[in-house]
Amino acid sequence: MLRKCLFPVAGYGTRFLPATKSMPKEMLPVVNKPLVQYGVEEAIDAGLKQIGFVTGRGKRAIADHFDTSYELEHQISGTPKEKYLTSIRRVLDVGTFSSTRQREMRGLGHAILTGETLVGNEAFGVILSDDLCFNPDRGVMAQMVDLYRQFRCSIVAIEEVPENETDKYGVIAGDIIKDDLYTVTDMVEKPSPDKAPSNLAIIGRYILTPDIFDILRDMPPGKNNEVQITDALLVQAKRGCVMAYKFKGKRFDCGSVPGFVDATNYYYENVYEE
Ligand code: UTP
Repeated sequence: MLRKCLFPVAGYGTRFLPATKSMPKEMLPVVNKPLVQYGVEEAIDAGLKQIGFVTGRGKRAIADHFDTSYELEHQISGTPKEKYLTSIRRVLDVGTFSSTRQREMRGLGHAILTGETLVGNEAFGVILSDDLCFNPDRGVMAQMVDLYRQFRCSIVAIEEVPENETDKYGVIAGDIIKDDLYTVTDMVEKPSPDKAPSNLAIIGRYILTPDIFDILRDMPPGKNNEVQITDALLVQAKRGCVMAYKFKGKRFDCGSVPGFVDATNYYYENVYEE
């Protein structure tokens, strides 16, 4: 079954400059936990315990976060402060962590292709940790794994967005199978509202079957001169099947400042425990 989850974390995070000048945006904390740790916890809770980071320059803090910090552990061992390490210790006990480098920012599709070396020939999850998803009962990736068990094809998570925001997302058209599930018939990357096939936008959760790698290898750059995962998924959809799943839960776009602030307020009020 599914064992692996890729985290493309090579982006520059320009919208958070200067905070992201020397720090990865994935390490920005929502209250007291970095974005990427929320994503990794979601993957592990879905049974995807082999975590692969597709990193870039200046992202060492991510690798260090998912490693033991001997000095710190030693210092606070046996003190009341030790409880603050509980969540990261749990992740480190259960997960394994590897990384590979994307040397040039050539788009999300290219980042995923770069991760092939970590994934091999099996289906895998992809989490963009700047989309922070909240569901206290069953995480979004776990919901998608349940569907994968049933359908065995690539799955993208979608959300209805306001019609004037389609140009921020990949947008799908699909045939509805049941209330929250579609088979994808078309996909457009960041369409202007008048060209959007719907208002069903893809958010940063995917399950991909490994034939995506061969498609990506042959994929010319698309929108913004970047290799787009949506273009590759459309090829997959035309050859076989790609499903789009309207997930249950709340999503915060933590790649943007307003979304990040919303997430911080929501998590402080509803999730954070000291
Ligand atoms: P974004 O479009 O949010 O870009 O990438 P960004 O560079 O991270 O942020 P801004 O727009 O400059 O503020 C979506 C996701 O895809 C990854 C990013 O790390 C992010 O998780 N990505 C994108 C890569 O890993 N490599 C790429 O070449 C492009």
